[in-house]
Formats: sequence, C-alpha cells, structure tokens
Amino acid sequence: MLDQARQWLRAARSMAVLTGAGISAESGVPTFRGPGGLWRQYRPEDLATPEAFRRNPRLVWEWYDWRRQRIAQARPHAGHEALVRLERAKPRFALITQNVDGLHERAGSQRVIKLHGDIWTVRCLACGRERRDERVPLPEIPPRCECGGLLRPGVVWFGESLPPGAWEQAEDAVRNCELLLVIGTSAVVYPAAGLIPLAQACGARVIEVNPEETPFSARLDCSLRGPAGQILPALIPLEPNVQTG
Ligand code: OAD
Repeated sequence: MLDQARQWLRAARSMAVLTGAGISAESGVPTFRGPGGLWRQYRPEDLATPEAFRRNPRLVWEWYDWRRQRIAQARPHAGHEALVRLERAKPRFALITQNVDGLHERAGSQRVIKLHGDIWTVRCLACGRERRDERVPLPEIPPRCECGGLLRPGVVWFGESLPPGAWEQAEDAVRNCELLLVIGTSAVVYPAAGLIPLAQACGARVIEVNPEETPFSARLDCSLRGPAGQILPALIPLEPNVQTG
C-alpha cells in the first residue's frame, strides 16, 4: 500500500494536499473530535460562533488565548517537514489547510491556502483592519484596536463564510490536480470535506493519511492508517527524487 502510494506521489506533476487538526496532533496541538479533542470538552456554540463572541467576548478570547499559548509551545514535526519537501519537488502544488495554528508556515511551507483563517491574526469589528498579533499571553483580554474597537480572532467560526479567495483557490487547485493527499481530517466539516469528492469527480487519485477511518475511506484509492508524523516521512523520501517531468 505504502509502495503504491509512494509511486503515485512520485509520478504526479500537479498535487494538492488537504490537512486537518490531526497533522498537528503529534506537535501537541489538540484536535477537535478525537480523544482529548476540544469539542469533547467545550461546546462550539459557546466559543466558536459570532453569537458566542457577541454574548461574551472575554470568555471567547480567554479560550483563544489559551489555544495560542498551546500552539506557541508546539513545534512542526517530520510530517510537516515532509510536506515542505513535496512542495519543492512539484511544479504545481497547493497545501490547503483547515488549521489555524500556522505550523505549516513555521515548517517552511510557502503556498498555504488557509480555509479557516489564522489564530495569529486579529480583526477589528469597528474599523475592519486585520493584522498579526503573536503576543502570548495577550496583555489585554478582550484586546482592542488602536481605534478603540473590539478585536476578534481572525478565524472562521461556525455559520461564517470562508475567507474571500481562499475557497476559490482551493477549488481551483483540487480541480486541476492529479493527486490529492488528505491528512489528519475527520472530513465531516463542509465545505472543506467537499474537496475530496470534487477531486475524485475531476479524475484525481486520492490518498488519505489518518490513524482512523473517515466517511470517505472506503471510496479512496488508498488509505494509509497511521500517524502523519510517521507515514509522511515514509511516503515522501528525503532524497530529491520525488519530481518527475
Ligand atoms: P478533527 O478533530 O475533526 O479530526 C482530526 C482527525 O485527525 C481525525 O480524523 C483523527 O483520526 C485524525 N488524527 C488524529 N491524530 C492523528 C495523527 N497523529 N496523524 C494523522 N491524523 C490524525 O479535525 P478537523 O478535521 O481538522 O473548524 O476538523 C475540521 C474543522 O472542525 C476544524 O478546522 C475546526 C473544527 O470545528 C473550525 O473551527 C471552523
């Protein structure tokens, strides 16, 4: 199975990768739905909706500040690094992530399409200005803009649309790839999960890397069962021979 997947990967000239929280699990960032997952402990409607933020911005920010501290302590692992090698080896490549933690960029990935925003950005509800703020912990909760307005995390909450442009770029990459590699996502949150059947409808092969089954596993070309930190380095060799013409 791994040999076959390696061969497909080597042969593909255009590739898209879709990642979810599972790729960051071995870095120490909690997932959402698995054992120890955030949505097992907390209710998304209390913390990750525009209504929750309107009701209690302090509570929402305390939770995001705690997550930012966890993420700040995390380091990208060999799986993230393998994706950097893959990007360098492929003429056409897009890394689409549902993660807001920034670990792909910290590992060195360049072409990252962030479907659910970025936990290290803040956006003003009054003036609309968006900027990076990497301070941990935040000195003031809830944080305020220079204009006096309330700042919110630059992430996508339930019920909100995806960042302008990101979805179009993701769809475009998936429609035009020969191979889609799906890593560490439960594939139950849409529209992101819809990229998997889209790739198949457009004729791409799909390989999944996940220790657990997902709703798509049975329909995919190959399901590699195991943690991303082990499977990806085995799938994407160190020597620069991944590329073909
Ligand atoms: P989930 O928590 O739903 O799923 C994590 C997936 O990672 C599961 O399928 C696990 O089996 C798998 N997994 C666990 N450890 C792994 C490892 N070491 N290597 C590879 N896979 C592993 O996370 P997402 O699918 O990313 O959205 O969740 C999608 C969205 O739901 C998130 O972006 C977030 C959440 O609500 C928003 O906040 C908008």
